[in-house]
Amino acid sequence: MIANTTIQESGASQPLLAGEIDSRHGPILYLEDVNVSFDGFKALNHLSLYIDSGELRCMIGPNGAGKTTLMDVITGKTKPDSGSVYFGQTINLLELDEPAIAATGICRKFQKPSVFDALTVFENLELAMHADKRTWPTLFYRRNAEQNERIHNVLDTIKLTSLSKHPAGILSHGQKQWLEIGMLLMQEPKVMLVDEPIAGMTHQEVERTAELLLSLQGKHSIIVVEHDMEFVRSIAQKVTVLHEGSVLTEGTMDEVQNDPRVIQVYLGE
Ligand SMILES: Nc1ncnc2c1ncn2[C@@H]1O[C@H](COP(=O)(O)OP(=O)(O)O)[C@@H](O)[C@H]1O
Ligand SMILES: [Mg+2]
Repeated sequence: MIANTTIQESGASQPLLAGEIDSRHGPILYLEDVNVSFDGFKALNHLSLYIDSGELRCMIGPNGAGKTTLMDVITGKTKPDSGSVYFGQTINLLELDEPAIAATGICRKFQKPSVFDALTVFENLELAMHADKRTWPTLFYRRNAEQNERIHNVLDTIKLTSLSKHPAGILSHGQKQWLEIGMLLMQEPKVMLVDEPIAGMTHQEVERTAELLLSLQGKHSIIVVEHDMEFVRSIAQKVTVLHEGSVLTEGTMDEVQNDPRVIQVYLGE
């Protein structure tokens, strides 16, 4: 237990700990009146968005609606021309660069898998844990029981326990995507941004991805951008429709799919 105490102490010395995000009086993540333009073209246009702690939010919208730009703004890759972007009540994300934003507990899963094929599934998760700055000191010690348990919990969540000793290179496309989600989970993110998670997956893999994302709600705040409407319906709680850089409407899947403005926008695609 001495080793565990050391980890917690090293974490407490960091200025921004994921556990310290103050969302007690409102959303965990909010964007207000955000504008982003590229050479005069408004990729985000007076966009406002509020994400609650533990919520699983789906973002849909036609190509060019601004979905990826929105994620770029949250993660600090793109700085808006104007507007507010806050994490909890106190962290102004516009004042932080990309690594500092990642260190607050906001992480992003890209489409292209970045797992290490030559390492085992277990080792990939172990490596991801060490990429978390808060556990850096443990690189120089043997893995302790608490860390072992963390890895096994994530293996269980992503349903890859039986493949843990196999090299990641043998995994199917879908399994690699889950491993990548597992690697994010090793860092215990507060907010996970997931862009088009099911691209290229088989029908069965899509179903398991839906189960996986649903199992994470409540523990993490997740924003999923996805084109596939059937998939969105299978996981949707609240759906936000983006169009021309603004929120067109929000609601349940049934509400947004029956909204004449949404139908109009998709027919026009
Ligand atoms: N770096 C950039 N430079 C110029 N235009 C961009 C850039 N990034 C995005 N855009 C434009 O902004 C709009 C929104 O893009 P994007 O956020 O990728 O939409 P989505 O992900 O919803 O398809 C598009 O018209 C796109 O061409
Ligand atoms: Mg996109």
